Amino acid sequence: MTDPAQHNAGKTCWNCPAVEFKGHVDFRACGQAAFSRAAEGQLVVECKRREEIGYFDPMSITYDACPEYEATEFGYLLRGMRVMILGMDGYLGWPLALKLAKLGCQVFGIDNMLRRELVAERGAQSVLPIGSMQERIESARELLGVEIDFRPIDLCDREEFFAYVEEVKPEAFVQYAEIPSAPYSMASVETATKTIYNNNIGTLNLMFAMRDYAPEASMIKLGTMGEYGSPLTGRPLFEGLFPGDAVLQHGDDEWSLGGELVPRDPVSFYHVSKVQGTFTMYESCKYWWLRGIDVMQGVVYGLHTPELMTDPSLNTRFDIDEWWGTVINRFVAQAVVGAPLTIFGSGNQIRGYITVADAMQCMIRLLASPPEPGQYEVVNQVTDVLSVRELAQTVARIGRDEFDLTPTIQRIENPRVEAEEHPYEVIHEKLEKDFGFSSQSNVEDEIRYMFKRLMEPSSRELIEASRDTLFPKTLWSGGEKTLEVVEADLDY
Ligand SMILES: NC(=O)c1ccc[n+]([C@@H]2O[C@H](COP(=O)([O-])OP(=O)(O)OC[C@H]3O[C@@H](n4cnc5c(N)ncnc54)[C@H](O)[C@@H]3O)[C@@H](O)[C@H]2O)c1
Repeated sequence: MTDPAQHNAGKTCWNCPAVEFKGHVDFRACGQAAFSRAAEGQLVVECKRREEIGYFDPMSITYDACPEYEATEFGYLLRGMRVMILGMDGYLGWPLALKLAKLGCQVFGIDNMLRRELVAERGAQSVLPIGSMQERIESARELLGVEIDFRPIDLCDREEFFAYVEEVKPEAFVQYAEIPSAPYSMASVETATKTIYNNNIGTLNLMFAMRDYAPEASMIKLGTMGEYGSPLTGRPLFEGLFPGDAVLQHGDDEWSLGGELVPRDPVSFYHVSKVQGTFTMYESCKYWWLRGIDVMQGVVYGLHTPELMTDPSLNTRFDIDEWWGTVINRFVAQAVVGAPLTIFGSGNQIRGYITVADAMQCMIRLLASPPEPGQYEVVNQVTDVLSVRELAQTVARIGRDEFDLTPTIQRIENPRVEAEEHPYEVIHEKLEKDFGFSSQSNVEDEIRYMFKRLMEPSSRELIEASRDTLFPKTLWSGGEKTLEVVEADLDY
């Protein structure tokens, strides 16, 4: 394995967002040959930060030899990199903003506060108290000594967004600004339409903004493991693209599948919107020589990173209701207020998971190591692969043995349309092999940490106030109903 701090030391200006390509190179005609042409010196670049060195071969300077890069525990990072986070007020956007700012990046962000609005519409709220964006930015300035630039912009508002991108000229983008709820997207034609529109038009606007104002920037776009579904054949979930030696056999014929996008089988209209996001990005890299990494992220859980732990005024949001909470977070909240931990159907559905702290580490490593121009890269961002039943049992055990609670687990009628028994083999190698990632968390410790925080009176009261929103009722077949309990009091 590469030294985690040095995984990108040998990358060159070819991968750097601070250079501009010179001359009339038809990249599409070059295709994969572009890389070797660059090596042969047929392609020159100019550094936007070091104009004094003039035109040069993009392969001639490596990150470890360039004074614009500095060594960090996450690899070489472009000094003061301008990163724009789309969806900065969200569960993941805020901790990423803090971490990047602490690393010396110039952090810019937008959000239209849609998440706050939609959670409130459902009668719920973040059960970790959070200040307004301005209050949190002020706290970050006082407590961490960092500056963060934020604008209340809707990514679907092309004019405002393009103007901000033109002003900042980011060197990297992180696309988090989407509506991320499967049940919300299945609740009605209105919520399905809103999800598809918001997520797809937003991403499309990002692609055009990059093409016109920041073509050398790299982008990290959030996909989800739910794009793949859970193929009943047991086909492994490769990292977005088939490996080089994959073949399709039919009758007497055989074809190579190497490098092709793997099939998608999305599990809700939200996931359908994510699949379209994948194609939007894939095509933009191809048409306009943009570069980006599509992150097929597992379900994220937990609430701590070193920066978030500094002070409660830096909290990130933490939702626990049926629509906006994710599974482990919801289980812990249910256990804290004595509500049953609800598992759907058999509970043998298997999914990939990652803590918020590990997810942040991955994001910084990916930002530190942009793909080549025109390259669409995909990683599966997962550390643990577990069944929902196992997770409920682990949460219940820790609640009982270490926090003096008496959790119960219920199997309820499954409101979703999904396989309850299925093979699930996730390939997740690239982050470790190519980007130096190594997990710093584990499921039990993160659950303990969540119990500690959620049992504080301020959070416990907020969970109590949202109690009615804990029990699931949204059906994939339409409408809502009180779901039947199939089995009460499962062992753990
Ligand atoms: N949290 C998870 O478990 C998980 C798992 C897999 C993938 N993802 C993906 O990661 C991304 C971030 O997830 P999250 O959990 O932080 O969600 P979140 O809802 O907390 O954050 C998204 C933020 O984007 C904002 N937003 C939405 N539409 C916008 C628009 N048009 N313009 C500006 N801002 C907009 C929201 O107000 C919110 O603050 C999403 O794309 C989601 O699909 C999340």
